[in-house]
Amino acid sequence: MLSNVMSDRLLAVLPDALRAQALRRLAVHEPVLRKLLAGLYGQQADFDAWLGALMASLGELYAARPAPLRELDAQREAQPEWFLSQRMLGYCAYVQNFGGTLNGVAERIPYLREMGVSYLHLLPFLRAREGENDGGFAVSDFDDVEPALGSNADLVALTTRLREAGISLCSDFILNHVADDHAWALAAKAGDEQARAMFLCYPDREMPDRYERTLGQVFPQVAPGNFTPALGGWVWSTFYPYQWDLNYANPAVFSAMAATLLRLANRGIEVFRLDSTAFLWKREGTNSMNQPEAHQILQALRAIVDIVAPGVLLKAEAIVPTRELPAYLGSADARECHIAYHSSLMAAGWLALSEQGTGVLREVIRNTPTLPPSATWLSYVRCHDDIGWNVLRAEAAADGSDATARLARASRFFAGAEGSYAAGAAFQSTDPNAAHGSNGSAASLAGLERADSEAARALALRRLQLLHGLALSFGALPVLYMGDELAMENDYSYRHRPQHAMDSRWLQRPLFDQARWRARDDAGDSAGQMYQSLLRMVRLRRQHDALAANAPRTLLDDAPDAVLALARGERFVTLMNFSGEPQAYALQGRWTDCMDGSILDGALTLAPYAMHWLERGATA
Ligand code: GLC
Repeated sequence: MLSNVMSDRLLAVLPDALRAQALRRLAVHEPVLRKLLAGLYGQQADFDAWLGALMASLGELYAARPAPLRELDAQREAQPEWFLSQRMLGYCAYVQNFGGTLNGVAERIPYLREMGVSYLHLLPFLRAREGENDGGFAVSDFDDVEPALGSNADLVALTTRLREAGISLCSDFILNHVADDHAWALAAKAGDEQARAMFLCYPDREMPDRYERTLGQVFPQVAPGNFTPALGGWVWSTFYPYQWDLNYANPAVFSAMAATLLRLANRGIEVFRLDSTAFLWKREGTNSMNQPEAHQILQALRAIVDIVAPGVLLKAEAIVPTRELPAYLGSADARECHIAYHSSLMAAGWLALSEQGTGVLREVIRNTPTLPPSATWLSYVRCHDDIGWNVLRAEAAADGSDATARLARASRFFAGAEGSYAAGAAFQSTDPNAAHGSNGSAASLAGLERADSEAARALALRRLQLLHGLALSFGALPVLYMGDELAMENDYSYRHRPQHAMDSRWLQRPLFDQARWRARDDAGDSAGQMYQSLLRMVRLRRQHDALAANAPRTLLDDAPDAVLALARGERFVTLMNFSGEPQAYALQGRWTDCMDGSILDGALTLAPYAMHWLERGATA
C-alpha cells in the first residue's frame, strides 16, 4: 500500500471508482517519477510543494479523462505491444493540404481506411503565430485549434470518428519552444518575471557567445545563430527567431507542459510527436543536444502518461546521429518514448540510391540495436522536413571515406547535379562542399518529374516503390507522407508566397491532388501505378507477422554491394536492388516470391531497383 504524500495528492482528487486502478499504476510508476523529478528539480527550495501541486493537477486530469479513452487505456495496458503489429500503418499530412480543415480530414477517413491506415499524424493544427510560423511549429496557444482549421469541438469530433475507424490521431507536441506571441512570451514582454523565467534570457552577449562556441545551427541561412534580441537582452531560439526555447531547468515549465499534453490527450489525441526532443536541455561546452536531462524529462513525461493515460504513445522526433537514437526509446528499466523516428535509415535509403550501393545503409542497420520491449522505430521515405545528411556522418566515414565530401555529393545529386535524375533542392547550404539537407517530394527526388521517356518513368516509380518497400519491411511503424502514395511531384508555388519563399521545405508540402487521387486505380497513370503497388505491399505486409516491428531482423552480408538483403525471422527475406543494373543473388533452398507467387530455386536476378519479398518453402 502506498501512503506517500505524492500519491495522496493525486488520489485525493480522484473519484472512488478510479482509485484502485490509480493505486496500481502509482505503485509501478510513482517511484520512477519521483526519482526523475527529484534529480531534475530537487534542489529547488519549494520542490515538495511544487511536486504536490503537480500531482494534484495530474489527479484532476486523470479524473477528467473521458470514459472511452479510459477504456482504451485499459485495453492497451493489457496489450502493451499493440502498436508493433505489421497491421499498423501511418499516414502524415498537413490538415490544410489534405482536408482543408479538421472536418475536411474527417471526410477522408474512407480513403485512409482503403489504404489500411491505423495512425494519422496531422502536422501542427493548434493556434499558431500570425504571419510566419514555420508551418504551425510556432504555437501561440496549445489549448486552441488554429481557427482557420476548426475548433476544439471539431478536434474532439475528429478524434472520435477516427477512433471508431480504428485510427489513432497523432499530434505534434512542440515542447521545446513556443511562439513569441504565446501568452508566456507576451507576459514576459510586459515585464512579468515569472513568465520571463519560462525562457532562457540573457542580459547581454556574454553567455550567448559562450554557448555559441559549441552550438550547431538548424537553419544557418534563414535563421543564423541560436539567440534573438528580445526582452531587453537575448532569448534562446534554436530555430526561427520567433520560436523561443522553453527553460526546462524551471520546474514550472515542466509541470505546465505536462498538464498541456494531458489536456490534449483528453481531447482524444492518442500519439504525441514530441518535436525537437534533442534540444530540451542546454549545457555550456556542448552542442546542447541529447543531454542526459533531456532524457530524464522525457522519461518523467512517460511516467506521467503511464499513470494518467497509458493508452497514449510518445514519439520522439530527434534527428540525431544513429548512436544517439536508441536512448530515446529508453530501456526496460527506464522507459522513455514508445516510438522514435529512424532518420538515419531514411537518409541512408536515399543515399543508397544516389550511390547505387548499400554500404552506408548496411552500416546504419548494423548500428541499429535490438529494441527494448514495447518500443519501435518509425520508418519513412519522406516527411515535411528536409533529408538531413549529417546524421549519417559516422556511417559515411566507416569505410574510410571523407564523410563531408560523400554527403555533399548526395546533396548535389538530389539537387539534380552530376547527371542525376532527381529534381530537388539543397537546403540551407550554398556551399557545394558541405552537406546539410535535401528537399523535394519523393517522386521528384526519385526521378519522376524529370523522366522524359516511358523507361525513365518506370525506373523512377521503381525507386519510389523500393524505398517504400524498405520502410514497410524493415521492422518499424511505417508512416507514409501525404502525396507519396500517388507519386505527387514538387510544388513550386511556395516561391510566390513571401512567408515561405526562403524555406525550400515547402517543395514537399503540396496540396492534395484530387486528379491523381481519382486516377489511383488507373494502371496507365503513374499515380495509379504507385498507389496500386503500394497497396499490394501494404496488404502483403499485413499477412506476414515476420514483418512486425518486433520480429527479428538480420542483415545478410552475402549480397552484392548494390543489394540490401534482410532476413526477417527464419522464413522471410527481403531483397532490394539499389542500382540501375541487374544483380544476381544466390538463394539457398526453395522460396516463394510473395509478390507474384512464383517459386524460386537457386539464383535470382534482381532487375534494376527491384524488390522481392521471399518466404521460405513453396506455398503455391
Ligand atoms: C521539427 C519539425 C520542423 C520544425 C522544427 C522546429 O524539426 O519537424 O518542421 O521546423 O521542429 O519546430
